[in-house]
This record gives sequence, C-alpha cells and structure tokens, in this order.
Amino acid sequence: MKTILVTGGYGFIGSNFIKYMLKNHPGIKIVNMDCLTYAANLKNLKDIENDKRFVFEKANITNEKDVERIFKKYSPDVVVNFAAESCVDRSFANPQLFIETNVLGTITLVCCAQKFFNKSNLFVQMSTDEVYGTLPKDKSIRFTEKTPLNPLNPYSTSKATADVFLLSKIKNDKFPAIIVRACNNFGECQNIEKLIPKVFDAACKSNDILVHGNGLQTRDWIYVEDTCSALDIVLEKGKIGQIYNIGSDNERTNMQIIKKIVRYVKENINKNCSMNLVKHIANRPALENRYAIDHNKITSELGWKSQTNFENAFEKTMLWYQKNLLDRKS
Ligand SMILES: NC(=O)c1ccc[n+]([C@@H]2O[C@H](COP(=O)([O-])OP(=O)(O)OC[C@H]3O[C@@H](n4cnc5c(N)ncnc54)[C@H](O)[C@@H]3O)[C@@H](O)[C@H]2O)c1
Repeated sequence: MKTILVTGGYGFIGSNFIKYMLKNHPGIKIVNMDCLTYAANLKNLKDIENDKRFVFEKANITNEKDVERIFKKYSPDVVVNFAAESCVDRSFANPQLFIETNVLGTITLVCCAQKFFNKSNLFVQMSTDEVYGTLPKDKSIRFTEKTPLNPLNPYSTSKATADVFLLSKIKNDKFPAIIVRACNNFGECQNIEKLIPKVFDAACKSNDILVHGNGLQTRDWIYVEDTCSALDIVLEKGKIGQIYNIGSDNERTNMQIIKKIVRYVKENINKNCSMNLVKHIANRPALENRYAIDHNKITSELGWKSQTNFENAFEKTMLWYQKNLLDRKS
C-alpha cells in the first residue's frame, strides 16, 4: 500500500486532494500533517475521517522533531506539501510568518525527507502562478515554466523562495522532487477570506462587497477537482526535477467573478442583492494586474487536461456554498 504524506490537508486544496485520492485509489494510505491554523477546517474531511486508510497527525512542518517522528513512523513513499500561509492580504501585515511557514517549513520537510528518501520516493511542492508576477494585457502572453520569477508580494516571495531552494536541492543533491504551479483555485471548502466565498457571504447578507481598485485585475481560474487530477497524474507520470504549470484557460476579471456570484445570489438566495453592494476600495500594494497560465507542458507531456466546464463547476460551487457556508462558520 502506497503511503502519501499530505501536509496542510485540512485546508482547501489539501482536503479536496485527500478526498480525490482516497476515492480514486483504493490501495493508498494518507497521512495528513496539519497544525490546524485558522485556515484549517475539520469539517473539510468529515466524510472520510473514519476511513481506515486515513490518519491525522497534528504537527507543524517547521518543527523538525515532529516532522522526523512522522517520517519514521509512516515511511511515506510520497510527500505532497500543501501546508502554507496562503492569504496575500495577510502577508503584507505579517511577512515573517509567511517566511517561517512557507520557506522554513518547506526546508524542514525537504531536509528531513532527504534523510529517509531514496530514488523511488517523490516530493511534490504545491506552488503558485503568483511566483511569476504579472503579465501585460496581450492575451497571447502567458506564464510558462520558463517565465522568470518576479514575485510582487510577501506571499509569492515566500513561495518563490521555497521553489528556488527546492530547485537547488534537485540540482545539487538529486533530491527527487517536482514543483507544481497552479493558478487560482475555486470550489468546495475554501476559506471564507478568499474572493469567491467572501463575496458570496456578503451578497447573501446584503453587506458591502469590497473590491480592490477597479476590479479589472484578471485571474486564471481552475476548479479544485481539476487541480487534484493534475496532481494525481504528476504523482504517476511526472518527471523528477521538473516544474509543471496547472491551469484551465479560464481568465476572468475580478468584476466578472463578482457579477456571476451576485446574479446567483439574487436569483436563489437574496432578492435584494445587486451590484450596488460593490464598494471600490484602495488598490492593495503592487496588486498584480493579470495572471494567465500556459499549461501546455503538463498537457502534452503527461496527457493531463482539465475535465470540468467552468460554468458548470462555478454553479456547483455556488450550490455548495448555499448549502454549507453558514453551517461551517460556526
Ligand atoms: N488556493 C489557491 O488558489 C492556490 C493556488 C495555487 C497554489 N496554492 C498553494 O496550495 C497550497 C494550499 O493552498 P490552500 O488554498 O488550500 O491553503 P489553505 O490556507 O486553505 O490551507 C492551508 C493549510 O495548511 C495548514 N498549515 C499552515 N501552516 C502550517 C504549518 N506550519 N504546519 C502544518 N500545517 C500548516 C493550515 O492549517 C491549513 O489547513 C498552498 O501551498 C498554496 O500556496 C493555492
């Protein structure tokens, strides 16, 4: 039975990944190492918490002793590192925490893995398109894996630093790792501080919907289940030492996303909700204007393609928040 050590598995993408893997691979065991920050939610894994193939270890990835104990106890074949401070807005106020978790935490995990790993093991680092910075408006230009790193906020700086560290380990020590850089994920179980659930919540309550600047910043959106299927293929077929971008060609401005949420909430939950709730506030420092991912490498080399239609996945996500959001905030 293959053992996968997942870090940050009570967060948004980690919890979706654990459920995806348990559903699609009967013969695996998952160890979830999570220190349960504000971003974790135990309800994210309620459906599988009694699954015998799942174990939870409350531990911090920056704690060398705990990390070593967990490696010794479970001898994981694969590590997928999702654990991170992930909120850009928070990173301006407390950059030290982002460096501690995202950089030192990754270094601690990697150095420990190095002691236990051989060539058949694999370390997958969940990184982000934010490490590439921003793009001009020209739609023909996208981030490829060769785009130089140009992080523009403390969050992306910490993620880029972890990537660079890992790349040096791969080159110098032949450490068996792969880096995956995904665009903006959306879907079930995302923390309320992120754009889609936050706007959904405000729209339901007729609260102000606060928008940075003119809201015309563009993001590339991927349904979280597609990210999980991409990671699954990377685990199976990815080449050691490579970087793979994950995206699904859904560029939308923040205002386009907000309009879709407002329309859904008005039709289904709160008739009083309208775009009049939108209040434009100061742009955050160095707000990046456009992100767009070129995912040609993972598609052509590993045969991955996103399976979901954006509109259907968005509708499914709205329905999920309608059923779950209030219940989960308690
Ligand atoms: N959400 C996105 O759109 C997106 C896009 C690209 C990449 N990523 C990356 O994917 C990963 C997961 O993102 P997310 O949105 O699911 O994050 P999240 O904030 O929802 O969850 C993070 C999880 O990590 C745990 N954690 C934080 N610090 C920890 C520590 N020191 N030790 C152990 N556990 C710790 C938290 O308790 C939480 O469960 C992150 O590395 C993020 O940079 C996210």
